[in-house]
Amino acid sequence: METVLSGIRSTGNLHLGNYFGALKNFIRMQHEHNCYFFIADYHSLTTHPTPADLHGNVKQVLAEYLASGIDPEIATIYIQSDLPEVAELYLLLNMNAYIGELERTTTFKDKIRNQPDNVNAGLLTYPVLMAADIIIHNASKVPVGKDQEQNLEMAKKFARRFNHMYGVEYFTEPAAYNFGENLVKIPGLDGTGKMGKSEGNGIYLCDPDKEIRKKVMRAVTDTGPTEPNSPISEPVRNLFALMEVVSDHDAIAKFKEDYANCTIRYGDLKKHLAEDICKFVAPIRERIEDIKNNDVYLGRVAKMGAEKARESASKTIREVREIIGFKAF
Ligand code: TYM
Repeated sequence: METVLSGIRSTGNLHLGNYFGALKNFIRMQHEHNCYFFIADYHSLTTHPTPADLHGNVKQVLAEYLASGIDPEIATIYIQSDLPEVAELYLLLNMNAYIGELERTTTFKDKIRNQPDNVNAGLLTYPVLMAADIIIHNASKVPVGKDQEQNLEMAKKFARRFNHMYGVEYFTEPAAYNFGENLVKIPGLDGTGKMGKSEGNGIYLCDPDKEIRKKVMRAVTDTGPTEPNSPISEPVRNLFALMEVVSDHDAIAKFKEDYANCTIRYGDLKKHLAEDICKFVAPIRERIEDIKNNDVYLGRVAKMGAEKARESASKTIREVREIIGFKAF
C-alpha cells in the first residue's frame, strides 16, 4: 500500500480542471491506498483573503470535495492549517531551499506577472510549503494536473536534498501521478491555455445549468474547416478535449467526422457539450448544497481528518527533529 496525497488551494470553487486533473485520480485511489487529501489554506494567504472569505472558501471547498466523492471514512481529508507540523517542516526545509532555484520556477514567474503589486516571500517559497505538505506524510504518489509538474519536481529535490544532507534514507521521493499516463491539462473556454481559477475561463462544479450553457455557448471557436481533414485550431481542439472527459465516444467520433468532412456546426457541438457537462455537474452540485448546509457534519469531518493527519505529521516532525540534531536537555 502506498501513501497518496493531493491538495487544492482554497482560493476559489472547484472547476472541471481540478476535478479531471487531480481529484478524479485521487477518488479512484482512495480505496486501495493510504490517502490524504487536504485544503491548502496557508497557501491561499499569498493572495491576502479577508478573514471572512478565508473561512467561507475553506468550507465551500471542503463541501465540494466531499460532494465529488471523497469518502472521509476511508481517506483522510483535512485542512492544512490544522497541522502546525506542516509549518514547522516548511521552516526547516526553507533552510535548504535556494533563492535562485525558487526564483526560476514557472509558477513564481507567472505570479510576478499576474500580481506585480504583491510579490511576497510566501510566493517565492510556495514550492517549499508544497514539499512540506507532501513529505510530512512521506507520500510517494501525488495526483496532480500538468501545471503542478514542476512543483512536484521541486518536492522531490527537497526530499532528496534532506536525505543527502543528513546521510539518511528518511523521506520518500514523491512523484506526480496519473495512472502511468501523462499528466492532464484541462483547457479553458477562452480558446487558449488551461482552465484556471484566476483565468475566469472555467466551469465550476457548483455552476447552475443555465450558467454552464451560457459559458459553453460563448466559448471561443474559429470560422470552421474549409478543406477536408484540415488541422484543428487550438480553440476547437480544446472543446474536443472537454468532450473527451464528459461525452461518450460515439458523440466525439461523430463531431470529429463532421469536422473532417467540413459539415461541422460548432453550435451543435457546443449544445451537446453543454448538456453533457450539465449531466456530469448536476448531481455533484446538488450534493454540494446539501453538505454545505450541514455544519455539524462538516465540523465532524474536519476534526476527524485533523486528528488522523496529525498522527502521521507529528511522528514525522519528531523524527526529523532527531535527525537534524535537536535534543532535549
Ligand atoms: P490548485 O488549487 O491550483 O489545483 C488543484 C489541483 O487541480 C489541478 N488543476 C488542473 N489539472 C488539469 N487541468 C487544469 N486546467 C487544472 N487546473 C488545476 C492542479 O494541478 C492541482 O493538482 N499548489 C496547489 C495546491 C497544493 C498541492 C500541495 C497539491 C498545495 N500543496 C501538495 C498537491 C500536493 C495548487 O495551487 O493547486
